[in-house]
Amino acid sequence: MKTAEIRQKFLDFFASKHHQVVASSPLVPNNDPTIMFTVAGMVQFKDCFLGFDKRAYTRATTSQKCLRAGGKHNDLENVGYTARHHTFFEMLGNFSFGDYFKHDAITFAWEFLTSPQWLNLPKDKLMVTVYASDDEAFDIWNKTVGVPAEKIVRIGDNKGAPYASDNFWTMGDTGPCGPCTEIFYDHGPSVAGGPPGSPDEDGDRYMEIWNNVFMQFNRDETGTLHPLPKPSVDTGMGLERLSTVLQGVKSNYETDILADLVRAAARETGVAYSQDVPSLKVIADHIRACAFLVADGVLPSNEGRGYVLRRIVRRAVRHGYKLGQKNVFFHKLVDDLARVMGDAYPQLREGQAKVEDALRAEEEQFARTLDIGMALLEKSLEGGKTVLDGKTAFTLHSTYGFPIDLTADICRERNLELDMAGYERELKEEQERGRAAGSFKMTAGLAYDGNASTFHGYTEVSTEATVIALYKGSEQVQQLDAGDDGVVVLDNTPFYAESGGQAGDVGEISVAGGLNALFDVTDTQKVKADVFGHQGKLARGSLKVGDSVTATIDLHKRHATQRNHSATHLLHAALRDVLGPHVEQKGSLVTFERTRFDFSHPKALTAEEIAKIEALVNHVVMANHAVDVGLMSYDDAIKAGAMALFGEKYGDEVRVLKMGEFSTELCGGTHVHRTGDIGFFKIVAESGVAAGIRRVEAVTGEGALATVQALESELKAATGVAGAQPGELVNKLEKLQAELKAAQKEAQQLKSQMAFGQLDQLVGLGMLTIKDVKVVVSNVDGVDGGTLREMSDKLMDRIGSGIAVLASAYDGKVSIIARVSKDLTGKVKAGEIANHVASQVGGKGGGRPDMAQAGGTQPENLPDALKSVGAWVDAKL
Ligand code: ALA
Repeated sequence: MKTAEIRQKFLDFFASKHHQVVASSPLVPNNDPTIMFTVAGMVQFKDCFLGFDKRAYTRATTSQKCLRAGGKHNDLENVGYTARHHTFFEMLGNFSFGDYFKHDAITFAWEFLTSPQWLNLPKDKLMVTVYASDDEAFDIWNKTVGVPAEKIVRIGDNKGAPYASDNFWTMGDTGPCGPCTEIFYDHGPSVAGGPPGSPDEDGDRYMEIWNNVFMQFNRDETGTLHPLPKPSVDTGMGLERLSTVLQGVKSNYETDILADLVRAAARETGVAYSQDVPSLKVIADHIRACAFLVADGVLPSNEGRGYVLRRIVRRAVRHGYKLGQKNVFFHKLVDDLARVMGDAYPQLREGQAKVEDALRAEEEQFARTLDIGMALLEKSLEGGKTVLDGKTAFTLHSTYGFPIDLTADICRERNLELDMAGYERELKEEQERGRAAGSFKMTAGLAYDGNASTFHGYTEVSTEATVIALYKGSEQVQQLDAGDDGVVVLDNTPFYAESGGQAGDVGEISVAGGLNALFDVTDTQKVKADVFGHQGKLARGSLKVGDSVTATIDLHKRHATQRNHSATHLLHAALRDVLGPHVEQKGSLVTFERTRFDFSHPKALTAEEIAKIEALVNHVVMANHAVDVGLMSYDDAIKAGAMALFGEKYGDEVRVLKMGEFSTELCGGTHVHRTGDIGFFKIVAESGVAAGIRRVEAVTGEGALATVQALESELKAATGVAGAQPGELVNKLEKLQAELKAAQKEAQQLKSQMAFGQLDQLVGLGMLTIKDVKVVVSNVDGVDGGTLREMSDKLMDRIGSGIAVLASAYDGKVSIIARVSKDLTGKVKAGEIANHVASQVGGKGGGRPDMAQAGGTQPENLPDALKSVGAWVDAKL
């Protein structure tokens, strides 16, 4: 049975049991920062389990794409080494939100697996596990379903802490969780491994195919379990594992989809197809993870999800390299993937070009350092060392882009030990050097357990407040003295702390009008959620915890920041309008000076597109729409068409910012009152930041005016220097350029003529006679290769029989020509002479026995190289 058919059967079975068939959600969980990726089918239903979200149905079934790489659920290291682990996989699931519970979950599972109408698996091949204390589940299996007691294994807290068990499932460090019962398939004694709970349970013989979780609790940050409003069911069955069973093979990599990808990996790396080469399986697995991640909007980068993607791509590329493939190959597998999975996931075909581009760019980047990195690694192991030292591992990471798990993968393959502690030490030292160089925020990592601050900055410029905490550097203190750098935490503040891309406010905090204390605020950052840290220097007096102060922002700068921030929203909307709805925000930074906006778009913007975007934004500015701010629930905001950022965390109540009908976005930042306040909007730069990501920088208001004035004065100055009439600069420059070209040509011709004029001199003075052979060796400065050749023709005409070597340094490069008359080529070859000279000036040469040309890059070595010709020729004659 093909994988596609199994997927469909599962959904049909649960639809027949009144489950709503729901589409797979993306690999990046929407609006949930507690996990990086969708690790299970239940992730999209988390809020249904917690009772925060009500749907029109209480039973659902899905085939969900999942990724387990990085974080609590991480199978990256096992891929390629076991028959059943993946980073990317598909999970079949059925869910009950306060509807059925243990009895139905168990009997549904058994019916689907064993009924002749459905999968018809032999019952004696199946065994189950239950949580040690779950007598209810034990009894359902034993008494209702009829599984013999010896085939039901009780598993307790086997992972070293209460509820840390193979049979207690949790989504992440926090969130819904509960005891579970798992179903295993026995591949028979020909496969190594023991039953669950036995010492060799990690072998491949007994394969877990289905997990039924009885969702009963919500785990909070302290680890405490709170009962859920209604007991629920979350199940997960690995589609690849089920295919293994139904296709009668022993490994997931032999099933239809994955075997096809292993074959494609073999083709692209130039090795024979085999199931016994772990690297092929790693590549087959990783292409799915990487392609689906890019299709879902993740791009390789140095942090967060992007870094997990980067690690997986690089790991795949390194496995290709290990098989001998030194060229980029990985992205070529996207086409195979689209072929085998594109029917079930049309996004793979729609996004194919984008995915290929992103993966190729990442491969190319890594290819530049992989080879030298590997050489460094080999060198550090010379002399039969069995431990890879931490310093080398760190250099591989920091200089050659080897993620540490990639290095660990290499060590594991070769039975080497990796000095992780040494690596961590190097990493820490590097971070400290970064800190010392000032590239960090003073507020980062401050210990604080006091009250929150109240933010008044949407409406107030200045606030009376009390100092609730002080830090000198990172140390909490009771008092700051004049000259101290530090952080001030206030109970009330008008200062906006950096977030959502908007920079923190600057301004001052004073006591008694600045007479007793004056603290210059150079930045505002959150010490933690809702605790505002004002970072800066105490310029005067002393400041104590408990002091009453006046906190005042620099209004001029704040107004400029607001203009830039509101303009960013208009820019975002205009980009989507002009370029298309594929434009998604990928990052932004708004300061009082400018706005910088990164977004997904495959190519550089044209001048026309930039002009259109500027015109559209300025049009909305001039329409002078009111900027409306409203608070509403996240769901209502999305329904009202607000743009939310992918992967961002939003609270239950969100702030929605609307500018006419043109732009609606979720935003906590500070903004102008009417779009007309922006004044004037001007784009100043457009560039690429990564594959598929462009960056636009723009200015507004006074900044835009200053930009245009600067451009105008530069234009005026240029017009003056060029001696052009206003409005005639381009014509004038074109004319000047043509004149310059003509003059350069003339100069070149003159130089050649002068060089020809030297011919007589060369024949007269520069000629040697070596063993009766006429030899001319000369450095003719400043002529190009063509002239040199013409000169050599004339020279040979003059001398008839003999040898000529002419060379010239021109434009930082050396040209060499060697000639040997036909009667002498039996003894001396022109190619050899040219090579003899070229090899001394950083080049290589060759050619016919009577004439050869060569080049070099070291003009400074030319005189000595020419001097050596006489002796060299002498030896040959
Ligand atoms: N959420 C459960 C799992 O992933 C079903 O195993």
